[in-house]
Amino acid sequence: MLMLLSGISTACLAKSVRIVSPDKNLTVQITDQDGLRYSVTFNGVTVIRDARLGIVFRDRPAFGLQGERLNDITPKTFNDTWSQRWGERQHVINQFTEALTGFTLPDDSFAALQVRWRVYNDGIGFRYEMLGSGEQGIAITDELTESTLTQSEQAQAWWIPALGWNRYEFLYQQSGFADIDRVHTPFTVRRQDGIHISIHEAALVDFASMYLDQRRSGTLKAALVPRSDGLKVLTRDDFISPWRTIQVAPNAVGLINSDLIINLNDANMLGNVDWVEPGKYVGIWWGMHLGKFSWGNDGVHGATTERARQYIDFAAQHGFDGVLVEGWNHGWDGDWFKDGDLFNFTKAYTDFDLAAVSSYAREKGVRLVGHHETSGSVTHYEQQVERAYALYDSLDVRQVKTGYVADGGQMKRVDEQGITRYEWHDSQYGVNHYLRSVELAAKYKISINTHEPIKDTGLRRTYPNWISREGARGQEFNAWGSPPNPPEHEVNLAFTRMLSGPMDFTPGIFNLAANGLDAENRVQTTLMKQLALYVALYSPIQMVADLPEHYAQYQDAFQFIVDVPTDWSHSIALQGEVGDFVAIARKQRDGEDWYLGAITDENERVLTIPLSFLDANVRYQAQIYKDGEEATWQTNPYQYVIQSTAVDKEDVLTLRLAPSGGAAVRFALIKR
Ligand code: NOJ
Ligand code: CA
Repeated sequence: MLMLLSGISTACLAKSVRIVSPDKNLTVQITDQDGLRYSVTFNGVTVIRDARLGIVFRDRPAFGLQGERLNDITPKTFNDTWSQRWGERQHVINQFTEALTGFTLPDDSFAALQVRWRVYNDGIGFRYEMLGSGEQGIAITDELTESTLTQSEQAQAWWIPALGWNRYEFLYQQSGFADIDRVHTPFTVRRQDGIHISIHEAALVDFASMYLDQRRSGTLKAALVPRSDGLKVLTRDDFISPWRTIQVAPNAVGLINSDLIINLNDANMLGNVDWVEPGKYVGIWWGMHLGKFSWGNDGVHGATTERARQYIDFAAQHGFDGVLVEGWNHGWDGDWFKDGDLFNFTKAYTDFDLAAVSSYAREKGVRLVGHHETSGSVTHYEQQVERAYALYDSLDVRQVKTGYVADGGQMKRVDEQGITRYEWHDSQYGVNHYLRSVELAAKYKISINTHEPIKDTGLRRTYPNWISREGARGQEFNAWGSPPNPPEHEVNLAFTRMLSGPMDFTPGIFNLAANGLDAENRVQTTLMKQLALYVALYSPIQMVADLPEHYAQYQDAFQFIVDVPTDWSHSIALQGEVGDFVAIARKQRDGEDWYLGAITDENERVLTIPLSFLDANVRYQAQIYKDGEEATWQTNPYQYVIQSTAVDKEDVLTLRLAPSGGAAVRFALIKR
């Protein structure tokens, strides 16, 4: 620790303290000059300068504006490794320097807060901790935290708008800072010197979600999503805020290889979680999005006992773990997204025999995957949810997909006085609802895959049954979105949305253009890119999303989906540029094989990939699934080549990716 003194006036000597990462590359400097402020330096380059800290309360003086004086600090270094039930890697290194900054206040009528800092080699986290006795009724009306980026005029950013009607389901924009207003996190920045930054938060619990509100260029103020009563957060006087996080990396893939967000979350609180099961699943699902089936009984009902049996047979035949059935329960007829109060979560339609389907699945070594669409009617859902989980538990259903289709700001709840209120999905109310549902599900050994979720902030570490979520435009947009996902979408996701945690993107569409190649709604990728997504976009549960009959035509390509695992012992993002391309290698958990997924945007490119990530002293049979020479997403998406060749870690693989193409490789260990 180094302490600096820099005078602003003789009456008021400003003080600064520094916290340095274990590898010494990243430094945070905190000062009490001109309010409380911090700066971040990476390899000698100041990337955040004089950014404000502070919290505004309704009934107390704001923290950070009262002339608080910084106390001395004693940074400590921590280094441990923890293991996770499932994840991109089995063991996670958690190495950081921590310090708690306390402040001397003008007098004791002021809110006493401290700020806890953790400086990792790959980024920083800090959070506010109020020092009270647990008194209720502390109202937060604003947060003053800034991340003030230097040289933002030359930087590029990738973002989606905050406080929008479609929650997180917007196309990612690439722009200079002049075009940024209010944006969600993770918010990704590429500086001109190649340093990459991602701003986000970790451990979002009982607090409003943070978005970024750009003030003057480069000054991103933390803004809190409001509650329906106009407050931002209603809490206790010993609250702990989520971590404000800034990942800093020398290149784009450094952001993907960072474990900062999960490291900043608390350890698993659920004890033994062997009942949480990663795996692949099929579903009575895509047919509804294509308009072939309906969720309700007002068309060709998708969720029939007979069709569920067929899907179970298909899953069993290929070793898939689950079968999702949507539209099995009452409430879907008509405009289901307009009235969630009609849903009944325990009553099946008469053409769907829930007990028979779930027991047929168990006989076949498969599980039914449950589904609860709430249409954002949360109080109505909460009144039934425990019975609904208990029902699933009794049928040995271990995973439930939930849905909150309602426009932003339209999550419906009925308060204690019986008054109907509308909340943002990412308000404190929404944040608490989503976590309550996950905690309750854990009681029934059920894992939750949330669609229209609150953004991920790494809580999967604490609640490993929060197995996946949506929270961005998924595959479904290719069926009906206007426009559908463009060729750069998935590479944008890899460097933005995916930094927060797993996504249930639902890859694996093989009939890429159900209405013809010229139709607007089609999948704008090659077939090989659909395979590569299983590795490139991480989720411990991956859907095999297309209709079973669409796989028959490309059985040899389908083999990759049959083989690819969804749980990993190691993951390495090897190469990539934000929005352009990415290549990721992962080693199977409880197995010896490595896999590789590489995807590109609308541009064709040739990747040269050294296989140095492979284990030493062994050989692998590389089963390479790649775009054909003339493949291109627009006119020739189905042309591919499957090759097999023996390799070891000294070899280099050259892969040509077609426009919006991809490559998927299984490196199967050759046993001696
Ligand atoms: C939106 C989800 O993202 C989608 O997967 C689901 O089919 C519908 N809601 C209906 O719940
Ligand atoms: Ca959705």
